[in-house]
Order: sequence, then C-alpha cells, then structure tokens
Amino acid sequence: MGFDKQTIRDISVDNKTILVRTDYNVPINSSGAISDDLRIRASLPTLKYLLKHNCKIIIISHLGRPDGKPNPKYTLLPVAKRLGELLGIKIDFISDCIGDKITNAVKKLKPGQILMLENVRFYPGETANDINFARAIADSTGARYFVQDGFGVVHRAHATTSAITHFIPSVAGFLLEKEVIALSEAIDSEKHPLVAVLGGAKVSDKISVIEKLVKSADKILIGGAMANTFLNYRGINLGSTKIEPNEEKTLDKIYKLAIDRVGIDNIDEFIILPIDVAVATNPGAFRRRSVPLQSINMDEMVFDIGDATAYKFCKEIDGAKTIIWNGTMGLAENPTFSYGSSVLAKFITNIPDAVSIIGGGDTADFILKWCKYNNGKFHHISTGGGASLDLIAGRKLPGIEALLALKK
Ligand code: 3PG
Repeated sequence: MGFDKQTIRDISVDNKTILVRTDYNVPINSSGAISDDLRIRASLPTLKYLLKHNCKIIIISHLGRPDGKPNPKYTLLPVAKRLGELLGIKIDFISDCIGDKITNAVKKLKPGQILMLENVRFYPGETANDINFARAIADSTGARYFVQDGFGVVHRAHATTSAITHFIPSVAGFLLEKEVIALSEAIDSEKHPLVAVLGGAKVSDKISVIEKLVKSADKILIGGAMANTFLNYRGINLGSTKIEPNEEKTLDKIYKLAIDRVGIDNIDEFIILPIDVAVATNPGAFRRRSVPLQSINMDEMVFDIGDATAYKFCKEIDGAKTIIWNGTMGLAENPTFSYGSSVLAKFITNIPDAVSIIGGGDTADFILKWCKYNNGKFHHISTGGGASLDLIAGRKLPGIEALLALKK
C-alpha cells in the first residue's frame, strides 16, 4: 500500500507560514531531562525541509496527559531546547497556543525560524476536538498550511489532529508518510514468511492487532505477560503470576479464527506459546529460574520467556522475510528479565534480507537501548505506540483521514 495523502512535497511551501503538529510526547526523567529523544530526532527531516524552503515554522505538540490545565511538569520547554541543539538554531518558545501573544510572535518570526508553542493539552479543547479551539489556533498563527507529522497521535481525534483541518489546508510531513508506508507495507507484505512476535502486558490492548495478524501472518509467537494469559487459557498453572481476568471469550475468538485458517492440527505451530518460562518471587529480583511450564512453584511469578523458548522462537523466526515485533518478551525494564527480548533482538538483526519492524511504545524503548549497546539495526522502529497498533490492525486513523487526498 502506498500513501494516498498529500505531503509537503505536493504543495508549494516556499516562504510560507506553516503550522507543524509533532508528537513530542517524550519520556522526561525525575530531574526533568529528556531520557529518549527519538520523537524529536524523527521530526527533523520535515523541519529541515521547511527551513530549506524559507518557511516560518510554528510547532504545536502535546506532552503527557495534563488534563486540560497548565502544569509545569508537562512543559515543552526542555523539548524546545533539545530541538534547538539538534538543529543548531535557537527555537523561540511561547507559553501559550492561542491569542494575541501568538499572533505577535508569528509576526516577528523571520523565514527560516521556528516558534514552538506550549503543550496544547494545557487546553481542554485539544482532547475534546473543540472546533472553536482549533479555529483559534488557526487564526492566532495565521498559518497558510497545516502539516501533520505527529504520527504517535494520529489515532486520536483531537483539535490538532482533526478539527484544525477544517480551517487550514492540511498535508502530511515526512515522518507520518514514512511510518504509514513502513507499517502498512510490512503488514500487507508480499514477503513471506511473515512472522509476528507479540508480547507486552495485555491481550485486551492488542486484540484487533492479533485478529489482523491471524489473517496475514505465517506464524505468531507470543511472549511477555500476554503469553501468561494464553498459557492460563490452555490450562497451565502459573503459580502466583497475575493473569489478565475475563479474557476467555477473546481467546476463544482468536483460536476460532486461527483454527479456521490453519486447521486444528496445525494450531500450535501457528500460534506459538512459550515451552518454558523465567520465574522469580518478585519483579525486582536479581536472579531468575528458567523452568519447564510444569515446574513453577506456587510462590513464583513468570517474568520472561525461558531459555528453551528463546532458542525455539529464534528457530521459528529463522528464514522469515518480514518480522513484525510488538511487545517485549518479559519485564524488560529489569535486566534480569530482558534476556528473552535481547536474544530475539540479536537474532533478528542478524537475519539477512528480512524486513524487521518494531512497533512503538515500550518495545521501541527497549530496542533503542539494546541497539545503542549492541550496535544493532532494525529496518523501522516506529515512533507510535497506540497509533502503530491501530495501523497494524487496519483501522482508519482520524489524523490521517483528515488530510488532503493525493490528486489523481
Ligand atoms: C503516545 O505516546 O502514544 C502518543 O503521544 C499519544 O499519547 P496519548 O496516549 O496520551 O494520547
């Protein structure tokens, strides 16, 4: 699938005032510093292109969930500083999104300069997709075009993903285009075998993704806490492990779809579950026990796939032409339980010719760190969490739907 929306390449941006929506919802640590700037770096190609075309750029973004009220914890000021460092220019920052202050600041802005607005979620109108709030942003900035480049937020129908497009002609930035192409090509890939690796916490968060992959993947490997829900459903006793409640009907449906596709005799070679697990008595443990499924003690909890499973999953992935990975194999924030995810990361990066796609969120955080220390490379690490899941599930994303269609 290509990308059927207009991008900044399709319009004449030279010397224009452009409002760019980015997703700078970056992790901020306890001392107020940005702990991962992937989303800021990912926005650079669009910004550099607009700077090269002498645009006056106004950036609008959110950070966190401040509930429609100003909250210094969620200010975008550190992001403006980091962006300035990356671009080597000073970014003007204004602690508002609408009103005369914005209009005056835009007037003073010169071509090739950037003005960043404060967190748009400091206004209740943002998440309410309030048409009047969107109009006020459009009027205050006087932007000629709106560029949607916040891939991570396009699954939300908010004022700066949806309502704003009623007031300003709206096109996509390069990050949005790249994400949509990479993720949709992987999911509809002609390059088979397509192996999906799914983990993370909840089946309920990923149900539509699993349903989509049951139809398109050649194998689905299940790890992480999600595997516990599957193992429990298959009658395995998992000691003191917390199991997501009330998921029987969901799993009935997933297995029915899968059996319809591959037949009951092949189901365990299609949806592949751990054959052993790593257990401990608490999530902060420094030691793990890798045990067969039948040997979990009553006081133990499952926090990672076991050693034999890590090896088995690598064998299952071997020879894949497309790999879609969403969700870590265990509690990867504790190094004791990142073993399964690390083994898979290493194996995947060494498969020649395979297209490897990492869904965003926690998996991206883990993989970015892993790549940094292991010099690894994946084809595409998505900047979107919920957005990448919705796209893989085949849903229409409001922030993309609202953009101008490509002229035929
Ligand atoms: C994300 O981090 O997934 C996006 O920035 C969207 O944030 P939200 O889940 O708070 O809407």
